[in-house]
Order: sequence, then structure tokens, then C-alpha cells
Amino acid sequence: MTHEWGPLAALAGEWEGQGGLDTSFQHATEQVVGTPFLERCTLKPFGPVDNGSQHLYGLDYKTAMWRGDEQNPFHTEVGYWLWDAATGEVLRGFVVPRGITVLAGGTAAADATGFTLKATNGSVPYAIGENTYLAAHASTLSYEVTITIGDDEWSYDETTMLRMDQFAEPFAHTDHNTLRRVG
Ligand code: HEM
Repeated sequence: MTHEWGPLAALAGEWEGQGGLDTSFQHATEQVVGTPFLERCTLKPFGPVDNGSQHLYGLDYKTAMWRGDEQNPFHTEVGYWLWDAATGEVLRGFVVPRGITVLAGGTAAADATGFTLKATNGSVPYAIGENTYLAAHASTLSYEVTITIGDDEWSYDETTMLRMDQFAEPFAHTDHNTLRRVG
């Protein structure tokens, strides 16, 4: 990997993390539950993508999380991470198959070993789209993720604020994991 991918270069590859933890409101039990999970994540480099005078380099990614010994993942994401060297802008655009899209952004130095990306519902340019059911009953108000990069491992800590029917105040749905290189 070259400098063209900036701080994203270290994330290219195949990753696995056993120690994930999700905190969410579980409808089956009507309780807030902490769920440990296994995650497998692949990030593949591509680029450049040219928008006029802008030149982006990116990683296309897929990630999936399993709880216990269940066969099907209980959460998945597909999307792109992008780096604009001219402005130091980092983007993560992804889809959660509940019917939610997120474009989170922030800035970082080309050699940064950590950065934070944010998106807010109804805001520009880093926004959140969701289906009409979720908009009415479990709306994603904001998304924020902090990435920390180490040697052949990286971690994320993310908070998704939800306005849910079940709570008077916004509910913090949180996830974190450390991923280790497997390929
Ligand atoms: C590691 C990442 C994530 C995991 C493991 C995860 C897992 C979960 C789980 C287990 C639930 C509860 C489902 C239930 O029992 O009813 C849930 C709910 C929800 N999650 Fe996530 N989630 C993650 C990230 C996200 C992100 C990034 C977003 C949005 C940007 C999101 C949006 C939602 C919403 C809107 C609900 C509420 C659905 C409802 O009440 O109908 N989640 N998530």
C-alpha cells in the first residue's frame, strides 16, 4: 500500500475480532442488552476515483458480526472508506440492511493513527438516510465512530444515537471491537 491511501492504508486487508460488544435495545426481551460478538471484516483498496479536480482513494468494505454460535450474522455493513489527500477528508459511506445509509466524515493527517468520523440526521454534508418505519419509531439521530490504528490491529468505538418509541430521551446504541489481521 502506498501513501495515496493516507491513514486508510493501514486498514487494508482481512480482519477478525472476537471481543466485540454491542449495546442495544432488544425487542425480544424489551431490555437494553450487552451482546458480545465475533466480527469478520474485509477492506479492499481501489482508486483513484476522480470528481473533477478531486482524487479519492478508498477501500471497499464488508463487515459482519455473529453472536454466540448462530449461523447468520446479526449485523452487517457494506460500503466504502475514502481519503482525499488534498483536504485530509476521511469518509465512511455504508448501508446497514435495516434500511439505513450513513455518510460519516472528518479530517485526519495522512499518517494519523486515529481519527473520528461523524454523521447527523438532517445535516449536510455528513448525513443519515433511513426508511419511513425507522424514521417514525427508531430514528438514527447521529452516528460517531473513533478509529484507533495499531500494529496489525485496529479498533473502533462507535455511538449511534436513536430516538426510539421505548425511551423518552435519545438512546445510545454503542459498539466497539478490536480487529486483528488474518490476511
Ligand atoms: C457493530 C455494529 C452494530 C451492531 C452489532 C448492531 C446490532 C443491533 C441490535 C442487536 C439491535 C437490536 C435489534 C432488536 O433486538 O430489536 C440493533 C438495533 C438497531 N440498530 Fe444497530 N447495530 C450496529 C450498528 C448500528 C448502526 C451503525 C446503526 C445506524 C447507523 C444502527 C441502527 C440501529 C437501529 C435504528 C436499531 C433499532 C431498530 C428497531 O428498534 O426497530 N445499528 N442493532
